[in-house]
Amino acid sequence: MEKLFAKGNIGKMRLKNRVYMTAMTTGFAGKNGQPTDQLLSYYEERAKGGVGLIVTEIFKVNTVHGNALGNQLYALDPNNLPALAQMTARIHRYGTKMVAQLHHGGSTNNPDLNGGRLVGPSAIPNISGIVPEELTLEEIAELKQQFIMSAAMCKAADFDGVQLHCAHGYLLCEFLSASANQRDDQYGGSLENRCRLPIEILQGIKAVCGPDFPVLIRFSVQEYDPGHPNSISLEEGVEIAKAFEAAGADAIDVSCGNYFTMYGENMETYHYEQGWRKDATKAVKDAVSIPVMGMNNIKEPEFAETLLEEGVCDFVGVGRGHIADPQWVRKAYTGRSAEIRKCMGCMYCFESLLSIGYARCAANPRMGREYSFREQPVKNGDGRPVAVIGGGPAGMQAASLLANRGFDVTLFEAQDALGGALTLAGSTAPYKNKMLKMRDTLALEVEKSGAKVCLGTKADVDTVAALNPVGVFIAAGAKPVVPPIPGIDNAKVVLANDVVAGKVKVSGKVVIAGSGLTGMETAEMISRQGDVTELSLVDMLPQIGAGLYPSIYFNVMRNLAACNAQMYPGHAVKCIDDKGITMTKVEDGSELFLEADYVILALGLKPDKAMIQAFDEKFDRVYVLGEANAAPGRIGISISDAYIAAYCFDPEA
Ligand SMILES: Cc1cc2nc3c(=O)[nH]c(=O)nc-3n(C[C@H](O)[C@H](O)[C@H](O)COP(=O)(O)O)c2cc1C
Repeated sequence: MEKLFAKGNIGKMRLKNRVYMTAMTTGFAGKNGQPTDQLLSYYEERAKGGVGLIVTEIFKVNTVHGNALGNQLYALDPNNLPALAQMTARIHRYGTKMVAQLHHGGSTNNPDLNGGRLVGPSAIPNISGIVPEELTLEEIAELKQQFIMSAAMCKAADFDGVQLHCAHGYLLCEFLSASANQRDDQYGGSLENRCRLPIEILQGIKAVCGPDFPVLIRFSVQEYDPGHPNSISLEEGVEIAKAFEAAGADAIDVSCGNYFTMYGENMETYHYEQGWRKDATKAVKDAVSIPVMGMNNIKEPEFAETLLEEGVCDFVGVGRGHIADPQWVRKAYTGRSAEIRKCMGCMYCFESLLSIGYARCAANPRMGREYSFREQPVKNGDGRPVAVIGGGPAGMQAASLLANRGFDVTLFEAQDALGGALTLAGSTAPYKNKMLKMRDTLALEVEKSGAKVCLGTKADVDTVAALNPVGVFIAAGAKPVVPPIPGIDNAKVVLANDVVAGKVKVSGKVVIAGSGLTGMETAEMISRQGDVTELSLVDMLPQIGAGLYPSIYFNVMRNLAACNAQMYPGHAVKCIDDKGITMTKVEDGSELFLEADYVILALGLKPDKAMIQAFDEKFDRVYVLGEANAAPGRIGISISDAYIAAYCFDPEA
């Protein structure tokens, strides 16, 4: 991977390789706008992992209407300077450069954080239907100064440059886009006018910080927004890139999408392949001479290398890849790509950010916990035996970490291969092979750790007792819920997991009961099988796919619409017979009958409490992990439970 590890320049900024970590907001900053120990440790770990450049998460530049989060970095307060300088110092130790991303969310900000007030270039409703106030010329002038002075403060804190966030539907993107910007003054109308604000900021920064202080522009070269025909098209995006180059930008960081696209295109779910929109990046590369940076849903270093070989970009952005494995670069450099825990595109990171206020990673339980879990856990196993029951994600994580701590680990798996929920999740569609890759990486970790693996072995209390273990870790997953509905024993009733695992083949008219992720993805899977003639999804809840992360929901629904799947939200299964399934409408109790050759149950999972109790009564130290503990679960929670339990396990306490 010669090209990936070649040095390169952005302006006068020299980078040790061609990989940059794209800007990603974590929620780890302090409420005062300073980096916390948690944030510093998180970034330092990525620098230690070898990445050439880190673009930070968003800095706010305005505290009146520019707050995107309650805890966001902020450079304009001089009190924050020492902590920000510490941040750059901790990154520079490893030869990594750090650029601060300057941001204003415009009409996408949360009004609650901004005194109820949202602003934008024009009074055009945002995705929630809220109409922002149109910024006045005085406010624009003030905002411009705030961007410029933020850059000056970042320079004082020893940042190597700044990046203007003009992408994803935020304020500067709104100015660029004719769909959000309908001003009739010098900041709206023509492309030149729409580019004016970011360019004035860019040139203002150069004037204050000096021509050699790198200013990078991240913008959406294509908004992919079918609902807004005036949004930025690729053709216009290329013109915008040329305008930024002419105005003195040091590099273009090509992104795409806006808020109306629900993150589908700029932060792809597992539905997308690596490099699916590389042509858009290449279009910019072909049009400008300054360095082009681009993220392209990159999971694997080998693929990143091909982008450089094909001249798609000069620097490859690896965002979530760095959340999932801070050693992405180091492992690539040392020929250990197979050991990289690769992003699965499951969106657990952004979903956590939106729901609990900070990001977590399904693949990497240490993400955001670097300050508390040191890289190497205490190695004090001293060969004492432990048993791990279940070889799914939780079991594999627990087994390898315990073995690395020096315990004598025996991992029991009832199936004839490791994988569990990851194998099931990865089997529903070709694009879900990202889950299978994670399975393979975890299995490799188990192998390298030296843990003993007993496949095809359903461990009971006696089998485990024979080991005389100092700890028992139960990661045996959960059992499908089979409710006592009349006709549930009918031969046409099958379990979703059996369909996914290929144990049962369905055909003809198929009804799926339950529309959580398992039900939805089973539907997607069988919809591709030609022998399914009619497909229906039934759920008691008022919405099909309730609780799914929006961009995952959107992609699954799009695929199901393509096969004309029928949806029955708000319907409970009443009974099943040889002809089909009778449902009751929750709202009014009316009944509906659907003919069915097969009824697939995807009604959730429940832990095997009797089995857990038997182990608990026999052994002193029993740890119940993942779905064995709470079902249905999440891969992220399973891996994280297992990591923490194995890290903290102490047979003497
Ligand atoms: C948790 C999370 C937070 C993000 N925050 C930002 C941000 O602050 N600024 C930004 O420009 N992009 C942000 N992004 C988008 C990423 O920079 C990147 O463009 C996207 O994740 C796609 O690249 P990847 O496939 O390499 O992850 C964020 C993405 C994630 C997953």
